Amino acid sequence: MEQIVVSGGRHLHGKVPISGSKNGTLPLLAAALLVEGETVIENVPDIHDVRTMLEMLEALGVRTEFTAPGVLRIDATDLRSTEAPYHLVRKMRGSFYVAGPLLARTGHAKVPLPGGCVIGARPVDFHIQGFKALGAEVTEKGGIMKARAPRLRGARIYLDPRLRSVGATINIMLAATLADGTTTIESASREPEVVACAEFLRECGANLSGVGSSTLVIRGVERLHGCRFRSIPDRMEAGTFMYATAVAGGEVVLENVRPDHLTSVIETLQAAGVTIGYGDDWIRVQAEGRPEAVDIMTAPYPGFPTDLQPNHGVAASIARGTSIIEETIFDARFNYTDELARMGANIKVVGRAAIVKGVPRLSGAPVEATDIRAGAALVLAGLAAEGRTEINGAEFIDRGYERFVEKLRSLGGEILRCETRGAPCLV
Ligand code: EPZ
Repeated sequence: MEQIVVSGGRHLHGKVPISGSKNGTLPLLAAALLVEGETVIENVPDIHDVRTMLEMLEALGVRTEFTAPGVLRIDATDLRSTEAPYHLVRKMRGSFYVAGPLLARTGHAKVPLPGGCVIGARPVDFHIQGFKALGAEVTEKGGIMKARAPRLRGARIYLDPRLRSVGATINIMLAATLADGTTTIESASREPEVVACAEFLRECGANLSGVGSSTLVIRGVERLHGCRFRSIPDRMEAGTFMYATAVAGGEVVLENVRPDHLTSVIETLQAAGVTIGYGDDWIRVQAEGRPEAVDIMTAPYPGFPTDLQPNHGVAASIARGTSIIEETIFDARFNYTDELARMGANIKVVGRAAIVKGVPRLSGAPVEATDIRAGAALVLAGLAAEGRTEINGAEFIDRGYERFVEKLRSLGGEILRCETRGAPCLV
């Protein structure tokens, strides 16, 4: 197990470049399976989840190559297999995205069901209902989904309006791109990552309208051609650096960012007393002293993102006053609160809400990351805390954050990564 060690109490200062989006890039890598030819994707982050998806593509017979840092060439002309290996789906749920493209392009897909996950139940029933609505025969046996359809047929598909599944919207959209006729997805997710995927498909010759709205219309085409596309900046990484500055104090400018993707986060931090300025592709965050308490409720885009909820939990734990945090997307996304409590936070979880009474200061402690976002939040808690915090399970953070420790160090954070085998890790 790898560890990140933080000595808290340092303000952050400087500029930090934001990487390409994890959740924006993974669908593009799956979408490249639809293309008979070469696609080039720019701004691809070097993170473990991207590497896992590339392993998946290679296992299916796709050729992938980085031609420059962040520039990925994918050639899916010769698909060798339509079976996704279990060991890769198990590692990362996002790899279920290959199901829609495989089915659309070859008429077959055999993909293991991803199962539950530490942030809560994460079924793929909406994806499967969508494939069935498009005319596929689908069986689920022995933990494996098998889908078959010589040619998918366009259909009207209603997703659950309360959940607005990002993954189901993307998988169904990918499948429908090569279907016969028109598909309409009602209650489609409007997340920037969905919009980016739709724009990539358009660049490759797909016919889509209603992109960015909750009614997505896909008119099937015979085939897609190669294209070049730049992945969007990672709004979760950006939000994490904004919260890092809010809890540690200081002044940080985020570069290569899309402020328009972060409206709910900007407004929440402003309500907490953080000063924020921004232009087309930068955000400046200035913070001093304890944040004010702000209640939040997570919601599909443009609401407050569930992926940044743990960061807000850290800010709330040192805020002036009491905050209520409601989690509406994933039922086990408060796992991190037990770890924060070990650092002195006063948090009570009642069902889908956490009541957080701010304390003047957290104190460093050994803690355990249980998922990507919980891990990042614990690092933020370490930056804000007095003394030394050891975050175990650093490998979770590597799944989704590119050079996280290095970027925080460049801002003046006293933070180090170490292998725990052998010598103690000193900061
Ligand atoms: C995506 O997961 C992201 N992952 C998650 O980011 C993110 O937290 C989530 O969207 C919500 O924004 C990727 O993009 C790879 P959903 P996804 O389908 O698509 C229920 C991170 O840390 N649901 O929008 O799996 C589901 O249980 C990760 O980067 C069904 O019931 O999320 C949840 O309650 C974690 N049946 C809700 O819908 C289904 O078939 C929304 O999930 C699908 C989903």
